[in-house]
Amino acid sequence: MSTRVAIVTGSNKGIGLAIVRALCKEFQGDVYLTSRDCGRGQAAVESLASEGLKPKFHQLDINDLSSITTAAKYFKDTYGGVDVLINNAGIAFKEADTTPFAVQAEVTLKTNFFATRDMLTHFLPIIKAGGRVVNVSSFVGARTLNRCSPALQERFRSEDLSEEELVGLMERFVEEAKKGELKQGGWPETAYGVSKTGLTALSLIHARQLSKERPGEKILLNACCPGWVRTDMAGPKATKSPDEGAETPVYLALLPPGDSQPHGRFVSDKQVQPW
Ligand SMILES: NC(=O)c1ccc[n+]([C@@H]2O[C@H](COP(=O)([O-])OP(=O)(O)OC[C@H]3O[C@@H](n4cnc5c(N)ncnc54)[C@H](OP(=O)(O)O)[C@@H]3O)[C@@H](O)[C@H]2O)c1
Repeated sequence: MSTRVAIVTGSNKGIGLAIVRALCKEFQGDVYLTSRDCGRGQAAVESLASEGLKPKFHQLDINDLSSITTAAKYFKDTYGGVDVLINNAGIAFKEADTTPFAVQAEVTLKTNFFATRDMLTHFLPIIKAGGRVVNVSSFVGARTLNRCSPALQERFRSEDLSEEELVGLMERFVEEAKKGELKQGGWPETAYGVSKTGLTALSLIHARQLSKERPGEKILLNACCPGWVRTDMAGPKATKSPDEGAETPVYLALLPPGDSQPHGRFVSDKQVQPW
């Protein structure tokens, strides 16, 4: 049997780095720390090496399609596919940031929704039977959903929401942000929140597709919230350490072979949450 492999996006720091640390200890196989910047990635690999851990490294910028396809080819050629994929890379503007909201909307959705979707488009086909896919979303996405208009809530929660329709909704959010028409469109004014609402909805769509199109392969795909974690993104007042924030993503990544649940769920503190 070929060597098993786990990949974590955006793992040169924060929760991603803590996920790699935990996987190095618990996952039977090669663990890849990835970073858009090779220097920051190698420094993170060295910091884990000083703890006696041995992650491997691959460059991966999820905003760069050629970086995604190069990495996907590498993992297909080297390992025959991927056993565990954790889509952790994400961005958030600080509250005090004065960048116009329309720009924040476009930039935030670009990484957190569209680029993560590009990752899934190119990596889902090479996820091996028994594989685990974890999308690091946020409780903010669930809270944002509750602040959308009833019509939007109905679509986001609908079992027949297609990927195409979801992409259209995300594009509409950006367009309406640019036109200053968010309120009329039924959106709350939070780019990060909507990006994570979209990511969780996308996860549910992909899980349904996997069940339908690859039923015998027993791949489990879930979205999760790591909690409120002390990182550069959330700041020092957050309640969890990065290692604590890694617990739920790692739990989902290491669901034992043969398990059939959770799948297509939003999970926080290792518990399935309402959506
Ligand atoms: N912290 C929290 O309380 C919290 C709560 C809920 C959800 N989350 C989610 O958890 C995930 C990790 O957040 P964090 O708190 O650890 O944030 P962080 O410390 O800011 O780390 C974010 C990581 O994502 C990487 N990244 C950003 N854009 C990327 C791109 N285009 N390609 C590849 N990597 C990219 C960053 O790389 P660079 O170093 O190169 O910028 C960094 O490694 C995010 O998806 C976030 O939304 C966090």
